[in-house]
Amino acid sequence: MNLYEAIFVRKSIRKYSMDKIDQKVIDHIMNFADSIPMLFDDIKVKLELVQLADLKHFQPGILTVKAPYYLVLYSTKESGYLLNAGHLMEQIALYITARGLGTCYIGNLNLKNKVLEEEEYEQVIALAFGEGECEVYRQSDKAKRLPLKSIAVFKEEADKNVRSIVSAARLAPSGMNSQPWRMVVYNNRIHLFCKKNIFIRNVMKETGLLDMGICLAHILIGAEEMWLEAKPLYMNNISSQSFKKNDYIISVKMS
Ligand SMILES: Cc1cc2nc3c(=O)[nH]c(=O)nc-3n(C[C@H](O)[C@H](O)[C@H](O)COP(=O)(O)O)c2cc1C
Repeated sequence: MNLYEAIFVRKSIRKYSMDKIDQKVIDHIMNFADSIPMLFDDIKVKLELVQLADLKHFQPGILTVKAPYYLVLYSTKESGYLLNAGHLMEQIALYITARGLGTCYIGNLNLKNKVLEEEEYEQVIALAFGEGECEVYRQSDKAKRLPLKSIAVFKEEADKNVRSIVSAARLAPSGMNSQPWRMVVYNNRIHLFCKKNIFIRNVMKETGLLDMGICLAHILIGAEEMWLEAKPLYMNNISSQSFKKNDYIISVKMS
């Protein structure tokens, strides 16, 4: 199974066997994670593998899933770091899924890693993973997602490949399944917007950008599967406009 195929079967797993995973598999995951390029060159990230067995006095909160392993992503805070973090972590989540293991994002894993904080890294997101206690795959039609017409506007008759890419983007996981992505789709480009949330603006803005990075990962993985060259671009002519319901995030040009 490749990353594109994993998009269509991934689901959040919240019950894990506490058995250790073969060290070779862990090494493959960490090597894969280290090989992923950043979306923006100036951002630095560190990934820490935490084993539940090594954590003393760790009490998972209500929203924290108990798992044998957590991959914690720390990042410096240059512009675009949340988008980058989501884009990076989702590729790792899909790689782990393709290996037959379960994953679940954890928004607030309270680890308090003092060393990294001193180096001005911020803990951004964590991914729980391990052997699932139940089936780790799901058919994509069972995923609770908004209908395509609520998240994408097709400005031109998009071909089969572009439609498949948008369908892959639709399946992205998001914090509280909020699915903030909105897409304006042309035949060779997708403009990505994040739905404004006027009620819980600050909290949602942060997770919203992480979610957008995850969605962007699905778009770029989809484009690669279709053998299309895809480049994320920040388009000043769009960002200079203001939109009532959405914030402009980034565009993907495909050729
Ligand atoms: C940024 C982010 C944070 C999340 N935080 C949590 C969390 O703290 N606890 C949890 O159980 N699920 C968490 N999730 C998982 C979402 O609830 C889940 O992805 C969403 O409901 C869609 O379900 P699915 O992953 O099964 O497709 C998070 C997901 C994302 C993307």
